[in-house]
Amino acid sequence: MVKASRPILSQEEFLLFNEIITDEFGIRFADHKRQLLESRLQPRLEALHLTRFLDYYLQLVCDRAAELPRLAELVTNNETFFCREARHFEALFGRGLDDLLPSAVTPGSLRLLCAGCSSGEEAYSLRMFANQSFVRLARTRLEIDAFDLDARRIEKARRAEYERSSLRALNAEQVARLLTPLPTERWRVRPLHRAGVRFGVGNLLHVETFWSGALYDCVFCRNVLIYFSEGASRRAVATFARVLRPGGLLFLGHSESIIGMYPEFQTVRLGDSIVYRRVPA
Ligand SMILES: C[S@@+](CC[C@H](N)C(=O)[O-])C[C@H]1O[C@@H](n2cnc3c(N)ncnc32)[C@H](O)[C@@H]1O
Repeated sequence: MVKASRPILSQEEFLLFNEIITDEFGIRFADHKRQLLESRLQPRLEALHLTRFLDYYLQLVCDRAAELPRLAELVTNNETFFCREARHFEALFGRGLDDLLPSAVTPGSLRLLCAGCSSGEEAYSLRMFANQSFVRLARTRLEIDAFDLDARRIEKARRAEYERSSLRALNAEQVARLLTPLPTERWRVRPLHRAGVRFGVGNLLHVETFWSGALYDCVFCRNVLIYFSEGASRRAVATFARVLRPGGLLFLGHSESIIGMYPEFQTVRLGDSIVYRRVPA
């Protein structure tokens, strides 16, 4: 029997899918990433018994609301691990609180948002660093909200169970402090580091999907905008300006500089890091 050949994503189909993905999620696949998009969509074609990418596109257009969550799972890059770019956490819970956010220090309140949190390692790392500052934060009301477009990642974040790859930047002492070992090479985040961490499914392009209206002191949105179109990045930064209180801090990934690009944000140095401070309106 002759095996059916795998369908190829044509340039026209690539443009059609890219348009929907950018409109809905902000993510844009560069022209040289056509094969990558093809391989990401392929399993869905197989699951739906479709033989052409155009058929999947038509199904997506006809049943957009039902299919979009599946598409989000396919096209997002969810790479993450505990204590990724930990210098941000060290700087914030080092001098950052006293120098830039004195209202957070006991007694006070500290509201943090992780936008594009993937499976939760970033939010739990923040909580672990906050717990290490327990003396200064002893009478601080700490809340960490975290959201992601990909519902499966959020399910995993809520389970708080991880494989070894998520632990790769932790030393043995941090592993022991943050996690309890389970059988079968898995680890669960200890209850102390889960307290006050809330997860939800949300889309950075639609503020109402993740924001209750209460302002945040810090927004962490790291390694997310790198996948966005220029227009979507601009929308996202405008959203950060809206959800941060004046003087609040925006943390981006190391390759996502917005230095001098937005009047709403002033660039400040925090330890070894560059962060962006919300200028009072
Ligand atoms: C590479 S991960 C980064 C995770 C974490 N922030 C870190 O630095 O380790 C990017 C995450 O952004 C999420 N994402 C992409 N577009 C999004 C959007 N429009 N709204 C919310 N999350 C989004 C993806 O689902 C993915 O989990």
